[in-house]
Amino acid sequence: MKNIEYWEKILKNPPNSYKKWFEKEKKYLQKNITKNSKVLEVGCGEGRSLKDILPLTKNITGIDYDKKAVNDAKKNFKDFPKIKILKADAHKLPFKNKSFDFVICMTTFANFGNKKYIVLKEMNRVLKDKGFIIISVFSEDALKERMKVYKKHKVKIKKINNGKVIFDKSEKMLDYISEQFSKNELKKIFNKTNLKIIEIKKIGIAYICKLKK
Ligand SMILES: C[S@@+](CC[C@H](N)C(=O)[O-])C[C@H]1O[C@@H](n2cnc3c(N)ncnc32)[C@H](O)[C@@H]1O
Repeated sequence: MKNIEYWEKILKNPPNSYKKWFEKEKKYLQKNITKNSKVLEVGCGEGRSLKDILPLTKNITGIDYDKKAVNDAKKNFKDFPKIKILKADAHKLPFKNKSFDFVICMTTFANFGNKKYIVLKEMNRVLKDKGFIIISVFSEDALKERMKVYKKHKVKIKKINNGKVIFDKSEKMLDYISEQFSKNELKKIFNKTNLKIIEIKKIGIAYICKLKK
């Protein structure tokens, strides 16, 4: 199963722990995104979080490297011609330096593996000087809930090491890794990329992180 197929199945009927997390993400985004600001989502999937910020801005771009995700997001936003959905890789964002007021990355940060540093550098590059990055990602307490979901959707797992789940190659996924992080691990990662941490806040089974240049 491809990541996006599995993710869309979860979104149709999320367990309570995921529902609570998504609700808190939505509140956070609606409180933090400025009206009419220019927003990029990296790894937007079918556009779950972009829908959450529609009341605030339509100046939205979503990128995803999966064709199905891009097609589904385009369908979901067909009534909003200003919203751009592009097929692109987070490792090489097709935008000029300092293009966006907000770069958000909801749940996808778990999937970048060793490339997470390149992705953060890219997010920072396309962020305006006074802009903010918002990332949400599984916390160190998420594994039990994640495992229930993998089991329910019969996702084949090769190994699990300290909350890092490696999927079996037979799954035909685009990204074979899903990680979770402690607050300290996140701090270390962000410090390495010279991003300034505004806050790292626990929201249910995840952390939501607000960063700036
Ligand atoms: C777990 S889903 C999250 C989707 C959406 N942000 C949400 O929260 O509902 C992860 C998405 O990120 C995309 N993705 C993973 N790695 C990527 C990369 N390197 N470049 C672009 N998209 C990526 C996947 O294709 C998938 O659609």
